[in-house]
Amino acid sequence: MSAAARELLEPAAGPDEARTEAALRPRSLAEFVGQPRVVEHLEILLRAAAARGQAADHLLFAGPPGLGKTTLAGIVAAELGVGLRVTSGPALERAGDLAAILTNLEDGDVLFVDEVHRLPRPVEEVLYPAMEDFALDIVIGKGPTARTIRIDLPRFTLVGATTRTGLISGPLRDRFGFLARLDLYDPVDLARIVRRAAGILGVRIDEAGAVEIARRARGTPRVANRLLRRVRDWAEVRGDGQVDAAVAAAALRTFDVDERGLDKLDRAILHALCVTFGGGPVGLATLAVAVGEEPATVEDVYEPFLLAEGLLRRTPRGRTATPAAWVHLGLTPPPGAHPAPTLPEG
Ligand SMILES: Nc1ncnc2c1ncn2[C@@H]1O[C@H](COP(=O)(O)OP(=O)(O)OP(=O)(O)O)[C@@H](O)[C@H]1O
Ligand SMILES: [Mg+2]
Repeated sequence: MSAAARELLEPAAGPDEARTEAALRPRSLAEFVGQPRVVEHLEILLRAAAARGQAADHLLFAGPPGLGKTTLAGIVAAELGVGLRVTSGPALERAGDLAAILTNLEDGDVLFVDEVHRLPRPVEEVLYPAMEDFALDIVIGKGPTARTIRIDLPRFTLVGATTRTGLISGPLRDRFGFLARLDLYDPVDLARIVRRAAGILGVRIDEAGAVEIARRARGTPRVANRLLRRVRDWAEVRGDGQVDAAVAAAALRTFDVDERGLDKLDRAILHALCVTFGGGPVGLATLAVAVGEEPATVEDVYEPFLLAEGLLRRTPRGRTATPAAWVHLGLTPPPGAHPAPTLPEG
């Protein structure tokens, strides 16, 4: 991932950022803004589990970076009043790594596995009986005398997070009892998130200032919070610390966030699509090379917003620009540029 992508979307760029992000994280479903369907479903599911005194079903959260998957995992544990263990797919290199975590869980705990689509295959196979039967199968010995013994595990709730459900193997996906897809947030919810964060950080901001930041936050709470911090910096250095619409707009212009919330790399992608490749279709890998980015980063971090904005399309033959992309770059769409059929995610 490039520095630009990291600055925009990775959880924490440094210790200070990490501390702020932790401070801004909602701790209960009531504090969680937006995603009303997901919140309603979780409320029912968690309350039912708590009433039965049982561990909740395994939950899978899917969606682009910064929409609240990690936040929700913490909320699930808090709402259930149980412990939270955090790990990630790439961190679990060997089956033994997962076995060690599983055998140390307390009854009812939530085990959060971030990037669950990146679990190595042998580790994933340990997870199947753990999720299904709360058991660990251990092979003792080698060759013809090898035998398997089964160890019982405490009942736990696995919460998995992934950027795309299509990346998860069928057998793993099937073992989750509940799948929540997080969508990009609308500007009204993002403005609430900005106001909430401003309250916590002690930033003086008016309604129009919050709306201006929300409008340019790529539908993403993490981006909204980060833009708020940049605007606050700007307001303290160039103004009197008070944020209104004009201050927010001027600050965001300074940080290369345009009217629609597109950053440099968003615009580089559109420019490559429209100009270098004449509107496409162009394959994801080729497009990624053209902008000096990993294909997975372009696909998971940048495309969801460009798709949602109707600036880019996925077709069976590759990515194409929509007429709106040319217009956004200040160019005239060629006569042949017309909408093509889109492909579902995954
Ligand atoms: N619904 C929400 N209401 C208020 N703030 C939110 C909400 N969702 C996310 N945030 C804020 O956005 C930040 C990023 O959220 P989070 O880390 O949960 O995203 P994520 O989906 O886990 O991202 P990644 O895929 O990069 O791990 C959090 O620190 C939190 O402050
Ligand atoms: Mg996360």
